[in-house]
Amino acid sequence: MFAVHLMAFYFTKLKEDQIKKVDRFLYHMRLSDETLLDIMARFQAEMQKGLGKDTNPTASVKMLPTFIRAIPDGSENGEFLSLDLGGSKFRVLKVQVSEEGKRNVQMESQFYPTPNEIIRGNGTELFEYVADCLADFMKTKELMEKKLPLGLTFSFPCKQTKLEEGVLLSWTKKFKARGVQGTDVVSSLTNAMRKHKDLDVDILALVNDTVGTMMTCAYDDPYCEVGVIIGTGTNACYMEDMSNIELVEGDEGRMCINTEWGAFGDDGALEDIRTEFDQELDLGSLNPGKQLFEKMISGLYVGELVRLILLKMAKAGLLFGGEKSSALHIKGKIETRHVAAMEKYKEGLANTREILTDLGLEPSEADCIAVQHVCTIVSFRSANLCAAALAAILTRLRENKKLVRLRTTVGMDGTLYKIHPQYPKRLHKVVRKLVPNCDVRFLLSESGSTKGAAMVTAVASRVQAQRKQIDKVLALFRLTREQLVGIRDKMRVELEYGLKRDTHPLATVKMLPTYVCGMPDGTEKGKFLALDLGGTNFRVLLVKIRSGRRSVRMYNKIFTIPLEIMQGTGEELFDHIVQCIADFLDYMGLKGAQLPLGFTFSFPCRQASIDKGTLIEWTKGFKATDCEGEDVVDMLREAIKRRNEFDLDIVAVVNDTVGTMMTCGYEDRNCEVGLIAGTGSNMCYMEEMRNIELVEGDEGKMCINTEWGGFGDNGCLDDIRTQYDKEVDEGSLNPGKQRYEKMTSGMYLGEIVRQILIDLTKQGLLFRGQISERLRTRGIFETKFLSQIESDRLALLQVRKILQQLGLDSTCEDSIVVKEVCGAVSRRAAELYGAGLAAIVEKRREDQGFEHLKITVGVDGTLYKLHPHFSRILQETVKELAPRCDVTFMLSEDGSGKGAALITAVAKRLQQARRQN
Ligand code: BG6
Ligand code: BG6
Ligand code: GLC
Ligand code: GLC
Repeated sequence: MFAVHLMAFYFTKLKEDQIKKVDRFLYHMRLSDETLLDIMARFQAEMQKGLGKDTNPTASVKMLPTFIRAIPDGSENGEFLSLDLGGSKFRVLKVQVSEEGKRNVQMESQFYPTPNEIIRGNGTELFEYVADCLADFMKTKELMEKKLPLGLTFSFPCKQTKLEEGVLLSWTKKFKARGVQGTDVVSSLTNAMRKHKDLDVDILALVNDTVGTMMTCAYDDPYCEVGVIIGTGTNACYMEDMSNIELVEGDEGRMCINTEWGAFGDDGALEDIRTEFDQELDLGSLNPGKQLFEKMISGLYVGELVRLILLKMAKAGLLFGGEKSSALHIKGKIETRHVAAMEKYKEGLANTREILTDLGLEPSEADCIAVQHVCTIVSFRSANLCAAALAAILTRLRENKKLVRLRTTVGMDGTLYKIHPQYPKRLHKVVRKLVPNCDVRFLLSESGSTKGAAMVTAVASRVQAQRKQIDKVLALFRLTREQLVGIRDKMRVELEYGLKRDTHPLATVKMLPTYVCGMPDGTEKGKFLALDLGGTNFRVLLVKIRSGRRSVRMYNKIFTIPLEIMQGTGEELFDHIVQCIADFLDYMGLKGAQLPLGFTFSFPCRQASIDKGTLIEWTKGFKATDCEGEDVVDMLREAIKRRNEFDLDIVAVVNDTVGTMMTCGYEDRNCEVGLIAGTGSNMCYMEEMRNIELVEGDEGKMCINTEWGGFGDNGCLDDIRTQYDKEVDEGSLNPGKQRYEKMTSGMYLGEIVRQILIDLTKQGLLFRGQISERLRTRGIFETKFLSQIESDRLALLQVRKILQQLGLDSTCEDSIVVKEVCGAVSRRAAELYGAGLAAIVEKRREDQGFEHLKITVGVDGTLYKLHPHFSRILQETVKELAPRCDVTFMLSEDGSGKGAALITAVAKRLQQARRQN
């Protein structure tokens, strides 16, 4: 009895002594709660640094955006391939995610070896090997016939700009293949797969193993928003608020961040807790100076740390009677599994003896106890450090959600965590101690990270299918060079038709003579009134022209024309105009002055002289009754008479294109074309009299108002008109008319966009499939909004704000699509303009028999002026389609009122000359 007690006492004493000895020796490895709280705070600061745009480049914890925005919602389904590369085992899998609701996942997998010569050889060979394994798997499983999407779990730090791309930042753990760092691993693997002709696989997603783990666990527990790996390496990911991720545009919702916490301390932040053993281990590793936090924690290093400690203790005579075995000198001889075995509750001591004996040592009882305790200190430190970093993440989550208490789940994986008998317990306990205000559930990922990767792939493949649908719609608006050449040539034919007497009556491009025969010569002078009706704004102007110095002074006032007047009776419209003139004269103190007036009237008018213009038909937003077929000058005169307050001398009626050409022509004598890209679309140019069969005389030139907006009204553009163009046409004031204008001008582009958005929404591709009242409202996308949305300087967030202003509640993805739609529609418009203009300048060049033509085009209109890309694309297209013309574009700064006044001045001079004769 006494002997038993004595034995027990002896043993306890022995144990205490050994533990004390080791504790003393490894004093530095035992971290107090205070130190852990301090490390937790440091890691919080590191996360912040990694998330900041300016601080990220120098941050050691990279906080990589993963482009995964949501955890699985159970609606995922389909059949997927999965690769799992970078942990202790390389696996190829087929994952079947069940249909609707049942949350049933079936997996078939196959492990493949990863020999050192492959993972540390040449990058190309590594990817070829992976592709070979995939092909082998597919052959064995008879999957060759199927085209399956693939999700790649790649457990290394990758910088992603989208889900299906990842540039390897650096190898970690055991891998070190050449030529891979800094390149996209998805395209490398895709290239390698091409070698297998019969392999047809699309890599849709690249995910880190932490992300795969989080997603795997989240499939079963929707509270899961963190994924942690404590295996060969260690790392964690979590769901961060988008508004905190400065590296990715948008502020809505959350995105998973792969912290790459293994690199914590690489900038020296952990030097105070690193020991001589950590330093020694680092120096002997594949990546010295890197992954310093990981090297204190993960499975690849824990055994090695133990070995280094034992070696040192033996050398110091503290173990094995000072004997060292040769095996103890060999790197890697003690592995994580050994550490786990030695720490087993009951068999631990026996295991220790066996393991040490296998290493060629002859351990005493005391040695075994000491070695066991070394293992405990090393693995406990590992758990402590992980706990501190994880506690930092949990605190961040709680603060992001502004909660007093956080309830959450952490998905866990990795061999160290799984096979070490005490590890999970210790980790959980320390985490709960460090963050008492978080209720944490730790959920072990039983099936590895690939189930989660398959979920991600499922979502990606749905997104890809949707993307295809969107692209299909956008493709309708893309014109090939051949198509543009065809349009240019058709326009040319229409121009000739309109000029010829026989074909003119049927021509859709009306080619209206304007009776403007020359450009201003600088001798014009006087005070004129001008009206500018038909663009975005209705203006009344006073224009003072001084001769000789080519200087013009203008005073103007903008008036609104209410919709009910634009679409009321002709009398009401003209009475309103005269009312505005009266207000203006009053405002300028000119009541009673009898000034000559030039009338810019931006609608198609048949003219028999400069001061007569019969409205052929309304275009754009006007539809006043009793005007078509009437002379608008007469109508204006009659309205003035009805008011009976003042008299005006209406000398000229001009189209806005003509006014614009004149305004620019006053500065640049080469300006022989006037172009409007505004509410409407039109062009005028100086034509040889001999070509204008409708007007007597062959001498000189006359300006022709082409009214090209009607191009296509005979169906010649039907091959490029989309269903959306047709819808816009049908909803317009003049169905079937002005088809070219309806594909090109500001008044209609927004409407085309709206029709496309409605269609995409109906297909469930936008606005969560909900067509709002606002989206049903005609005219919400004014030119200025299109221009703002497409501005490159605008962040996605601002695009979203504009859409919100328009009453459209969009997500960031929606905003991207809306911007793309606007871009496709406005690009087509600019290209169509370019093709039309190319037809004219080419005609001018040929008519004059020039090899090369230098010509200036005066341009005006809100689309041209406000849109960020329109003018550039238009100019590029003209260059491409009329390469022998050197076209200068001159923006009309002063509007067409100035030009109208100049025309009036010339007409007045000629009028007086006629009277004198
Ligand atoms: C596996 C996952 O279960 O765990 C892998 O499927 C992951 O994706 C691995 O990399 C991590 O643990 P270890 O110990 O294999 O590195
Ligand atoms: C103005 C001209 O600058 O531009 C008008 O003065 C012209 O005559 C107008 O109609 C065209 O642009 P928008 O965009 O206003 O239709
Ligand atoms: C390494 C890798 C990281 C991975 C981790 C766990 O730290 O850099 O990407 O998640 O190991 O496998
Ligand atoms: C419409 C009109 C045309 C005008 C153009 C630009 O196309 O019919 O006359 O020039 O709009 O305002």
